Amino acid sequence: MALTVCERTNEMTAKLIDGKAFAFTVREKVAAHVSRIKEEAGVVPGLAVVLVGEDPASQVYVRSKGKQTVEVGMASFEHKLAADTSEAVLLALIASLNADSAVHGILVQLPLPEHLDSGLVINSIDPAKDVDGFHISNVGLLATGQKSMVPCTPLGCLMLLRDHHGSLAGMNAVVIGRSNIVGKPMAQLLLGDSCTVTIAHSRTKDLPGVVRQADIVVAAVGRPEMVTGDWIKPGATVIDVGINRVEGESGKTLLVGDVDFASASAVAGAITPVPGGVGPMTIACLLANTLTACCRALDLPEPEGLTA
Ligand code: GUN
Repeated sequence: MALTVCERTNEMTAKLIDGKAFAFTVREKVAAHVSRIKEEAGVVPGLAVVLVGEDPASQVYVRSKGKQTVEVGMASFEHKLAADTSEAVLLALIASLNADSAVHGILVQLPLPEHLDSGLVINSIDPAKDVDGFHISNVGLLATGQKSMVPCTPLGCLMLLRDHHGSLAGMNAVVIGRSNIVGKPMAQLLLGDSCTVTIAHSRTKDLPGVVRQADIVVAAVGRPEMVTGDWIKPGATVIDVGINRVEGESGKTLLVGDVDFASASAVAGAITPVPGGVGPMTIACLLANTLTACCRALDLPEPEGLTA
């Protein structure tokens, strides 16, 4: 059988799920909808991003978010605060953004400096403007299958899966990783689409055996190339959420996922690459969530295909 030969030679047989191209189409849809809202309601959807401190990676993310927000025609409000900003000052800023009708989405970039209580800060955001979907109300709404704001990375994974498969009903999905940001909401979303869902993690017994049962694997553990081809059921769909910096043979820094792409792509039916897979979907979904929040605030129809 061809698959066996390819498995031995590590030759890629899987379809590549191009998250970069898909994120582009999401941004195009968002831009078209934003333009319609401007014309019909005279409103410009707005996203406020709050950055506390000077973490270099966070600065890169925030710059990228601001740039893409403007590119789809939305208003971008950036608030950069010093690393020693007090909790009271940060909470006062969030209260003013909650009250500002030009702001439809609020994102506080994480991690926050240690003296700030992330949970308290996130839960001070108006849940209707919580475009990260991290507020405890949104977590509860998602867990009970109600309309909520959905965390961006899992929403992006869901969009890629729906685009590839159409219906996910009845599929066995294994999510590796139990974080509040990816693993848990991802499992809730897959359950919402009628998958049979297992959440696996570092203490799972026989992790390779559990993963081998999956029609859909979502890897979000943060361990470079942990999931290898021999863990994958032939034909399964593999979504790699990992973004790990490792040193390559030449000493150059390489970006790799949680999945060993070379071996997994010889067995999987479809797979996301790193980079260019899930990564670009996260900001695209942040823009989609901001648009959704704006539509809900104005009582306008929500954009199709951009929500859970
Ligand atoms: N830091 C890294 N990823 C994220 C994210 O998705 N949202 C926020 N708020 N901070 C982050």
